[in-house]
Amino acid sequence: MASVPPGVSATANRLADTPLAPWTRDAAAIASSPSADAGPTGHPRPAVTPPVATPTGPADPRSGAGGRAGDPDEAGVGGGADASGEPGGSARGRVRTTTKQRGRMSATKARALVELAPRYALGDAAASPLGTWLDRSFGRRAPRLLDVGTGTGEATVAWARAHPDQDVVAVELHRPGLARLLAGIDAAELDNVRVHEGDARDLLAGAGPGDLSAVRVLFPDPWPKRRHWPRRLVDGAFVARVADVLAPGGVLQVATDWAPYAEQVRAVLAAERRLGSPSAARPDRPVTAYEAAARAAGRPVVDLVTHRL
Ligand SMILES: C[S@@+](CC[C@H](N)C(=O)[O-])C[C@H]1O[C@@H](n2cnc3c(N)ncnc32)[C@H](O)[C@@H]1O
Repeated sequence: MASVPPGVSATANRLADTPLAPWTRDAAAIASSPSADAGPTGHPRPAVTPPVATPTGPADPRSGAGGRAGDPDEAGVGGGADASGEPGGSARGRVRTTTKQRGRMSATKARALVELAPRYALGDAAASPLGTWLDRSFGRRAPRLLDVGTGTGEATVAWARAHPDQDVVAVELHRPGLARLLAGIDAAELDNVRVHEGDARDLLAGAGPGDLSAVRVLFPDPWPKRRHWPRRLVDGAFVARVADVLAPGGVLQVATDWAPYAEQVRAVLAAERRLGSPSAARPDRPVTAYEAAARAAGRPVVDLVTHRL
């Protein structure tokens, strides 16, 4: 049974007094464009004062890399990489782990971000230790899953809906995907999901020992070309950081449809002595959008699951 930690309020809308995540500012600028006149969810629109708009960055010339052809959210209004040139505003020099752009999106999706982020976004999570933010945000101590690279988020919503006794933190670099996830959370009226736009590595860097009960990385970008292997998210450093912050018995799940990546994951898991031997049995987890496409294309899926010793 989840409990409320001392000093933590369990009232609704617990995030209202926390600073909005900086990424919602760009969305506010896009949402206030003249074409943005339709609500995203069908729910009554909350009275939200959009944060002060800041100029958005230039369109990213890598447009389309990893996007869906013909999707206006991949080729639409505004967005682009920030000053660092990387999706999610990662620090200069950081290896980028995705082909996707940070987020050129339609006004409708931008409005979903502006309207729903105050309710479900983790706020400026980089500003204080992750565990503290999660205590304040969820208002309880329940098992906590970090869902890394949630894409459009259908699987995250399905999982959270089926597990109301767990709290889920979704971290994703791709804003249009986050907008869809937010709309899904809102439509399902879930109170056990928070979202964060950013690099999962940054969120993990702010976590302390035992802050997370599970970390799930479903279908990270495969980076098949050898020269791109350093961009793969699940490497030794990532796994070591996960081991730092998982509670004893906590679980790390990785799935991929790319056999050479699976071999890499197997090797880095085996090298991390704080984690048990990985199992290749499919765990209890949702089917993701990417997985459905992989299966339809005949690509076999490899699951690797281990736990913190
Ligand atoms: C191949 S997609 C899979 C999406 C989803 N998990 C699925 O299976 O449908 C990989 C996702 O990971 C996200 N991603 C890549 N690197 C990331 C990082 N460092 N932090 C957070 N998300 C990341 C990408 O933006 C992309 O949406």
